[in-house]
Amino acid sequence: MRRTVLTIVTLSFLLQATAQTSDAKMKAYVASLMSKMTLDEKIGQLNLVTPGSGVPTGSVVSRGVEDNIRKGRVGGLFGIFGPDKIRQAQTLAVKESRLHIPLIFGLDVIHGHKTIFPVPLGLSCSWDTTLIERTARIAAIEASADGLCWVYSPMVDIARDPRWGRIAEGSGEDPYLGSKIARAMVKGYQGTDLSKDNTVMACVKHFALYGAAEAGRDYNTTDMSRIRMYNEYLPPYKAAVDAGVGSVMSSFNEIDGIPATGNHWLLTELLRNKWGFKGFVVSDYTSVNEMIAHGMGDLSTVSALALKAGLDMDMVGEGFLTTLQNSLKAGKVTPKEINDACQRVLEAKYKLGLFDDPFRYINESRPDKEILTAQNRQAARETAARSMVLLKNERQTLPLKKSGTIALIGPLADNHAEMLGTWAVSGDKTKSVSIQEGFKNVAGSVQMLFAKGSNITDDTAFAKRISPFGKPTEIDPRTPEVMIQEAVDAAGKADVVVAVVGEAAEMSGESSSRTSLDLPGSQRRLIEALVKTGKPLVVVLMNGRPLTIPWLDEQAPAIVEAWFAGTEAGNAIADVLFGSYNPSGKLTTSFPRNVGQIPIYYNHKNTGRPYEGGNPKFKSDYLDVDNSPLYPFGYGLSYTTFTYDTIQLSQNTIRPGQPITATVLVKNTGNMAGEETVQLYIRDLVGSVTRPVKELKGFQKIKLNAGEMKKVEFTISENDLRFYNSELKYVSEPGEFKLFIGTNSRDVKEAGFRLEK
Ligand code: BGC
Repeated sequence: MRRTVLTIVTLSFLLQATAQTSDAKMKAYVASLMSKMTLDEKIGQLNLVTPGSGVPTGSVVSRGVEDNIRKGRVGGLFGIFGPDKIRQAQTLAVKESRLHIPLIFGLDVIHGHKTIFPVPLGLSCSWDTTLIERTARIAAIEASADGLCWVYSPMVDIARDPRWGRIAEGSGEDPYLGSKIARAMVKGYQGTDLSKDNTVMACVKHFALYGAAEAGRDYNTTDMSRIRMYNEYLPPYKAAVDAGVGSVMSSFNEIDGIPATGNHWLLTELLRNKWGFKGFVVSDYTSVNEMIAHGMGDLSTVSALALKAGLDMDMVGEGFLTTLQNSLKAGKVTPKEINDACQRVLEAKYKLGLFDDPFRYINESRPDKEILTAQNRQAARETAARSMVLLKNERQTLPLKKSGTIALIGPLADNHAEMLGTWAVSGDKTKSVSIQEGFKNVAGSVQMLFAKGSNITDDTAFAKRISPFGKPTEIDPRTPEVMIQEAVDAAGKADVVVAVVGEAAEMSGESSSRTSLDLPGSQRRLIEALVKTGKPLVVVLMNGRPLTIPWLDEQAPAIVEAWFAGTEAGNAIADVLFGSYNPSGKLTTSFPRNVGQIPIYYNHKNTGRPYEGGNPKFKSDYLDVDNSPLYPFGYGLSYTTFTYDTIQLSQNTIRPGQPITATVLVKNTGNMAGEETVQLYIRDLVGSVTRPVKELKGFQKIKLNAGEMKKVEFTISENDLRFYNSELKYVSEPGEFKLFIGTNSRDVKEAGFRLEK
């Protein structure tokens, strides 16, 4: 035993020593290189440009890229992929620039590169960090096979406002789950060795609080207390930093009145000094320049502000490139500030192994062998099925039988493009499987009727707005009445109706905020007409955010939230609907009953006049709608049913170093095998500051055969009870706690314990 401990100690000492030596080697290499660099070349390393073949999200794309590369005035390139293009650019840098410094190549690989996985909000509903890590691993392999070494993911912004379209890009409303997913994704992208040719550097974004934009309007002001930041919004970014993420992207919004990109407290005091982040920080797309509109000064002032705040790389705006020399002369920035930023960018290139071999990620034989392989597609199919959430299933409408006649209806039922979702920059719609195709693949023997039933939107101007990157979302010229009638006729001839409705891909995502979360266009009328036919109806939703669908919940017997499920969406939806996969997804964001309830989230605080008890008049509630969401956080059904026995605690008291265990028996009471995510929540009943009514502190995904019972055990220690107090100290406070275990954040069993110190 002693020997093992000694061996472990020696080993970890050796590992540390090796890390220190390689760190020292890197520092020496970079210092020696920097001693040869001119000021112009150093500033050049801070310049990130896009030649414009990707998705330009700001109003400009870079010009004169080739010439600037030759002159050593570019540190990195994004928005291009493919070994050919990347080889060309890298050759320019290493053959024609004076110091032959390689470029770093980035891209928005957000939920897969070419094999597209479900949008991150969907992915998070799998509550399966191993699965999520695998998606990031596959994305890293595909991206690196396409010449890339840097990806702008994970996006870990906590979002509690579904009006904000970018809720689709993150993991929902919970900091605990969000942190686990952040860690898994960083691990998946970066692996254990960043210099391998199939790992890529991750970039956690958008630092910070971007998900809290006022009124859910993109890029809008955020304003929150430090205590809320620390407890509720910052944990996932910190988890990514703790997992060793190589880079961080600053966000567009302001924090305490200073835009994140120029916020010294955020980028230096918190990120580097407190959290010990060692990588580099890149701005968001022209977010340095955008500080002018924020009212922080002219280009030279905001560029200096950003550098001094701790920003290292300027995305697209070229504020650093065009103003830092003069700012240095004018004493507005120091040589050290420029050197520090340059050093951090060069260190990233060193860690990626680009100084050893600038062409490490460029191998023309890789794309064919490693991209969109059958294996990757299979992983996408499995992942998509596991991300879907069964919202309702009355009278066992699902799973469908593989016989009889099915009317497949809806604007998204035979579409290849929308299912890829937002930020599928390199996704190829010609490779995606539509639902109609999926049905044929999975249930070929079924007789199928098809009707479009409605457009996603009937408004041509709106269709253009939601198609910024290509052909406008298609509008069938027939009137809604004609299309609905066609669908009703098809339904009349079928045994069961499956209607696939929702949003167009770009109705969620960046700059896609909405004030109404209804089904757009005539889709609601379509569904209501189908309900009236009296045929069994399954509604499949394809969307990137919660929609307000209480009417649908009342009317449709079965609803599946499929999200934008990616390349294999059609197959995966068919797998779920026909029961080849028994759905197990659980929501990671609350579904509001109406937009007026927003923001709505499970881990809220209590008020002094809570809903329960007291004078019925003076309550914290609404006159016109219940306080509760339509579907709570953690909610999701299965084709089977699970029961939870009472919670057994090993002891009633936790002390530092003496955790307790909470055990619950979970039984599959249906007649089909299924997976259940058992969720553990706590509530700190009395605190020096108010505490949320529930906080997720653990979860386990288990598989149970029909009739099978399993004991699920959670360990809860003093550490799990910590939070940031009013002095921003991470503490636990003695006293009474409640503990809940259940199938979602609403339906739980309850027990109680004490913390003593
Ligand atoms: C987005 C980022 C993205 C960047 C580069 C910005 O508009 O906010 O998430 O990584 O563009 O494409």
